[in-house]
Amino acid sequence: MDEARLVTHLSGKRVVLGVTGSIAAYKAVSVLRALRCAGATVSVVMTKAATKFVTPRTFEVLSGERVVTDLFDAHEPMAHLTIPERADVVLVAPATANFLAKAALGLADDVLTTMLLSARCPVIVAPAMDGDMWTHPPVVQHVQTLRSRGVVVLDPEVGPLASGQIAQGRLSEEPKIVAAVDSAMASRCDWQNQVVLVSAGPTQEPIDPVRFLSNRSSGKMGYAIAAAAKARGAEVILVSGPSSLSPEPGITTVRVNTAAEMADALFRHFPTCTVLIMAAAVADFRPKESFAQKVKKQGKTDMVLELEATPDILAMLSARRTSQIMVGFAAETEHILSHATDKLNAKGLDLIVANDVTQTGGGGFGSDDNAAIILSARGEQRDLGLMSKRRLADEILTAVHELCLVRPCQKVLVQ
Ligand SMILES: Cc1cc2nc3c(=O)[nH]c(=O)nc-3n(C[C@H](O)[C@H](O)[C@H](O)COP(=O)(O)O)c2cc1C
Repeated sequence: MDEARLVTHLSGKRVVLGVTGSIAAYKAVSVLRALRCAGATVSVVMTKAATKFVTPRTFEVLSGERVVTDLFDAHEPMAHLTIPERADVVLVAPATANFLAKAALGLADDVLTTMLLSARCPVIVAPAMDGDMWTHPPVVQHVQTLRSRGVVVLDPEVGPLASGQIAQGRLSEEPKIVAAVDSAMASRCDWQNQVVLVSAGPTQEPIDPVRFLSNRSSGKMGYAIAAAAKARGAEVILVSGPSSLSPEPGITTVRVNTAAEMADALFRHFPTCTVLIMAAAVADFRPKESFAQKVKKQGKTDMVLELEATPDILAMLSARRTSQIMVGFAAETEHILSHATDKLNAKGLDLIVANDVTQTGGGGFGSDDNAAIILSARGEQRDLGLMSKRRLADEILTAVHELCLVRPCQKVLVQ
């Protein structure tokens, strides 16, 4: 089929494949395989009825991931939120009449429908049912409702059905479904041709072989930005301080410990990047002297540690920039906007993402969520409420794209 040749935007994308209780559920297996062949990672979510037709084991083996069938899954208790959060697209194939009704009404009585309510990515639905069901007024109405909400509902095909009837109701052919997913991704590949250099995590500045000075950064924000940029088609180089996180596949990762190592890695990759996003919490100071042996207490009641400033990586990169867009972060505890504006101007940045790391209610260091304000060199300000770091990453990329990549920022060089 022609559609097969068009598949070019699925590489590195994460597809959530919802499978519902239709006789066509077995066809979801070949959809899964085709998505995998096109380079996508696929997480499968099945309704209880779907498991009557195909076992989760089949999808588990072919996807290489656990299949979630239960809203109250013991292994992943918040699957209905975590799975869609990481998704680039949700595809429900086959979709039953029952699923269409629940999705249209916003019901949430299983993991798939609950997940749909929190998904912020494109949703594609491929119905399959008997011909009389497809033309039944409530089904027609639910399809209209879903379409009016931006859900892509693929028309089922005309042909012989399980009942023996020849009518419209057959699940769309696999290449057509894959092409629909691919085209949904094409519109989200707005970072293609960009080389994005992202820094993440803390640095550790050694005091002696067993001790160091560091900070509370977990790396989650930088890793989320790297993943979002990769998903939107960019080539991504992630320079990461010590972090327990693993980058998504396809991201070039350079692991560093100290501010000096982070500076080296960034200087090395900066000339070839088009966008730099500095989400790392680089130490401002380091011990002037790092002891060769472990410092012993031995009756001492105090100890003075002399510190020196680390290199100002952003200012040094700013002085070396040619045409790179530069985005910084300001993790502040007070006077958020004025400190962030000062940093934006002093470092010659195009954008700065300011956030209050003292906020309660789940933002800042180590948290999965963050609330940020984006300030641009042209004086624009976007206040983004509390949201997951993965979603914030997408908002930041959208802002960079709109403010800088589409309308290049005025370059302000540091004197
Ligand atoms: C053998 C068999 C085949 C079925 N095939 C379909 C189908 O193709 N489409 C559909 O909408 N419902 C079909 N159903 C009915 C659904 O399985 C039923 O509505 C179920 O509640 C759907 O649950 P789910 O939407 O949570 O998966 C079938 C039922 C049986 C017993």
